[in-house]
Amino acid sequence: KTRSIIRGVGSYLPEKILTNDELAKRVDTSDEWIQQRVGIKQRHIAAEGQYTSDLAVEAAKRAMAAAGVTPDDIDLIIVATTTPDYTFPSAATLVQMKLGMHHGMAFDLQAVCSGFVYGMVTADSYIKNDLSKRALVIGAETFSRLLDWTDRTTCVLFGDGAGAVVLEKAELADDAPEQGILASALRSDGHHWDKLYVDGGPSTTGTTGHVHMQGKEVFRHAVGKITDVVYDTLDKAGYTVDDLDWFVPHQANRRIIEGAGTKLGLPPEKVVMTVGEHANTSAASVPLALSVAVADGRIKSGDLVMLEAMGGGFTWGATLIRW
Ligand code: ACO
Repeated sequence: KTRSIIRGVGSYLPEKILTNDELAKRVDTSDEWIQQRVGIKQRHIAAEGQYTSDLAVEAAKRAMAAAGVTPDDIDLIIVATTTPDYTFPSAATLVQMKLGMHHGMAFDLQAVCSGFVYGMVTADSYIKNDLSKRALVIGAETFSRLLDWTDRTTCVLFGDGAGAVVLEKAELADDAPEQGILASALRSDGHHWDKLYVDGGPSTTGTTGHVHMQGKEVFRHAVGKITDVVYDTLDKAGYTVDDLDWFVPHQANRRIIEGAGTKLGLPPEKVVMTVGEHANTSAASVPLALSVAVADGRIKSGDLVMLEAMGGGFTWGATLIRW
């Protein structure tokens, strides 16, 4: 049986940290309001001249170092991002160039906050269809550049960063223990497009635009959609919530994560939570959280790990991995 196995994980956060107290000097908000409503303490912000592809390259290098591979060993680069350097070419081709690669293929994937989960499922399909042997799946965002820094309802929620994994093809004997991606589920419903969107783009205004969000509506849909797709993924693989060792959700907001955890019946100690330190980094949030939990020794070989995300579109999805 062919499986896509995670060989290495890495992440990168820009140096500059913006605290809630600093934000409160720009807009009418407070550390207390932000922490209580969404559980965010701080976010990292990319420096001027530091682009999404730069963040992605740093995370990719760390993932490759953890995997013990070099760019020569990679034949597919997927960058999940909503904030590419340019309208085109893709951030992924810029990452390919910055890694000194002339071989393989590279493209961006746009599913907003669900982008990394979509990217994992896409790379898994490429591997299982003999299109790739070893992929870099990267979630990278400079989301700070989409924010209206005078709008307190959105600017407090997001941050910049990148996370990456090396996903590798493995041929397992039929009786070998399961490893790698076991099952996944992806969904979208474009009827919800205007609940969370950016009011700009090449085909509409010709500008970049800013994030707009109906916060209560997003909240209302989030928990149900997250839990549906998690149950669906577990069902496909023949597992239940009790079998899970770790739940690594998209880090939008502490109350959404806790709501989903409670509805699933997961003990809080199995839920990886980094939203306090990273804020919502959109497509980067899942690999950033994963990278933290691998680095601190929580996620270990043999563990059953559920990745999940939901975001603009709406898009949502989950993927189950035997580590
Ligand atoms: N600081 C202080 N006050 C604020 C702020 C802020 N940053 N933002 C809004 N307020 C005020 C509002 O103006 C309003 O004041 P008013 O009553 O005088 O009009 C009051 O707080 C309550 O506003 P609501 O919008 O009703 O607040 P709510 O309880 O819905 O909380 C929140 C807002 C936290 C955004 C919530 O709706 C939420 O968590 N939604 C999910 C949004 C999310 O996570 N989006 C991330 C992207 S989506 C994804 O990644 C899945």
